[in-house]
Amino acid sequence: MARPGEVEEEFGVPIPGAILPEADWARTALKRWPLPPLDWDAVFGRSAPVVLDLGCGNGRYTLSSALARPEWNHFGLDVLPVVIRYATRRANQRGLHNVRFGVKDAQAFMRDFVPAGSVAEVHLYHPQPFHDPRKAHLRLLTPRFLADVHCALGPGGLFVTQTDNPDYWDYMTRVLPCYFSFEAHDAAWPDAPEGRTRREILAKGRHLRIFRGIGRRREDVSTAEARALADTLPPPSFTSRGPWCDLDAADAEGGTSGWKDQGRGF
Ligand SMILES: C[S@@+](CC[C@H](N)C(=O)[O-])C[C@H]1O[C@@H](n2cnc3c(N)ncnc32)[C@H](O)[C@@H]1O
Repeated sequence: MARPGEVEEEFGVPIPGAILPEADWARTALKRWPLPPLDWDAVFGRSAPVVLDLGCGNGRYTLSSALARPEWNHFGLDVLPVVIRYATRRANQRGLHNVRFGVKDAQAFMRDFVPAGSVAEVHLYHPQPFHDPRKAHLRLLTPRFLADVHCALGPGGLFVTQTDNPDYWDYMTRVLPCYFSFEAHDAAWPDAPEGRTRREILAKGRHLRIFRGIGRRREDVSTAEARALADTLPPPSFTSRGPWCDLDAADAEGGTSGWKDQGRGF
């Protein structure tokens, strides 16, 4: 159990923020989902630009962004309840009143819960590649998902994504420009040179190349056009072979998502 003032680490990299005395803790879990669509002002109890971190895992990016940008609201989402429990505990203990975490499938979330034009940024770090062909249909980044992200973003909104899987990246670079003015960002993020997320830190530790990109919502594509386009673009149907697959196998076992790693400070 971490104590007030303590700085936690994972893989030798500090987790942003320090633990506060219990009196200053926040409540960041969205335990009961309201009926869709979400009212962000009600979710956060204030009106502020909204940042989404989809498939957020243990929430490292959400924590650091929320600490760096207290005037922005941050919503982290993952389909796995156990990782959200860790993310929530850390955000609570850091007193991050500008954070909420929820458990849900990100495709359903974007399709049904997020009102059009209601978010400023969507972040998607290291979406699971699902190498098993029987699970390839679970890949999150599909044309329909991108159309929903395009719809959710307000004017000038950003979609930030990265992966250590070259085949997923190849797919991304083909479909993302249909929805976003998209540019690769080769260098490490200046705000987190050792990695914005747990997976990035792990991948760097194995000397895997990280592919990063920032997309700005294309205003010349309407929501109707974005949806129609989604029906014509190919699904993410790549197959992968390489060292990144070993790391993904560990992920499928819960190793890098951390749910089997509770004794080591996840
Ligand atoms: C490789 S991990 C990356 C976690 C974190 N973004 C990072 O970079 O460390 C992929 C995460 O996506 C989550 N995930 C997979 N499919 C999802 C879906 N359909 N909706 C929400 N989360 C999903 C997994 O539970 C896992 O936590």
